[in-house]
Amino acid sequence: MSKLYKLGVIGNPIEHSLSPFIHSRFARNEKIPALYKAYKVDEGSFNIFIKEFFSSNESLGLNVTLPFKKLASELDGEITKEAKKISAVNTIKKNKRILELGSTDGIGFIDDLRSKDISLNQKEVLIIGAGGASESILFKIIAESPKKIYISNRTTSKAEALIDKYKDLYKDMHILEQGNKPCPDIIINGSSAGLTGGFNPIDIKASKDSVFYDLNYSLETTPFCEWSLEKSSRVFDGMGMLVNQAAYSFNIWFGIMPETQKVIEDLRSL
Ligand code: ATR
Repeated sequence: MSKLYKLGVIGNPIEHSLSPFIHSRFARNEKIPALYKAYKVDEGSFNIFIKEFFSSNESLGLNVTLPFKKLASELDGEITKEAKKISAVNTIKKNKRILELGSTDGIGFIDDLRSKDISLNQKEVLIIGAGGASESILFKIIAESPKKIYISNRTTSKAEALIDKYKDLYKDMHILEQGNKPCPDIIINGSSAGLTGGFNPIDIKASKDSVFYDLNYSLETTPFCEWSLEKSSRVFDGMGMLVNQAAYSFNIWFGIMPETQKVIEDLRSL
């Protein structure tokens, strides 16, 4: 019998994670024998869990989600330049005895935009939120050479810290000042307020070509998407990014890029 690869996602909470569904589909479609499970771990037990999980010969890799992405970036191992800069790891692969640490969130996002024929090159980008979700895609957004990036955040000092952290890579990133009503080409919601229904509308101009993208996803329309649909028909939630970042993790583990479109459709019909 061929080897059964042990994989999983670690987080807390983790009950509602769609990753087991997505990765089980990938493995089945690609005919790879894999067991992918969700592991709920207490904050203080992260390092012990990682050590125990990877002590098994069958264990190949893990996805990491909230609240552990930063802790994962501090593990002993080989970390990519991007994951180091964004201080977040969402994919771990055991290669011989070394842990390879990386992030597929940024490429998952950019790839989803590409599949929708959206380019960030020389475009004005507004990012709402300055937490981990926004930062997870920032490195790759900068690599696309946008014209300008605005950051809007409830706590201005956090947005300022983010601008400062990335000034070595990108100079044209600014706080969105009140009264400055920009007309961004793409508006990205990285604020978790959108999850709880408390999304606060932002005062912007939008054209019918403006793209609105919520990094949050839900089987229902998210509050950010509801607000955006009043302004534009080009409104997307983070479901495509979710499946794409998973596909890039799968590719890190097995060297195979799985087909994503059918899995996105399957998720939408859950
Ligand atoms: P994540 O890793 O999911 O991004 P985070 O680092 O806690 O989580 O960041 C959450 C983001 O959502 C932050 O930008 C946060 O704003 P603050 O920096 O002011 O905390 C934003 N956010 C969360 N709840 C919010 C709310 N009710 N209104 C506005 N912004 C909110």
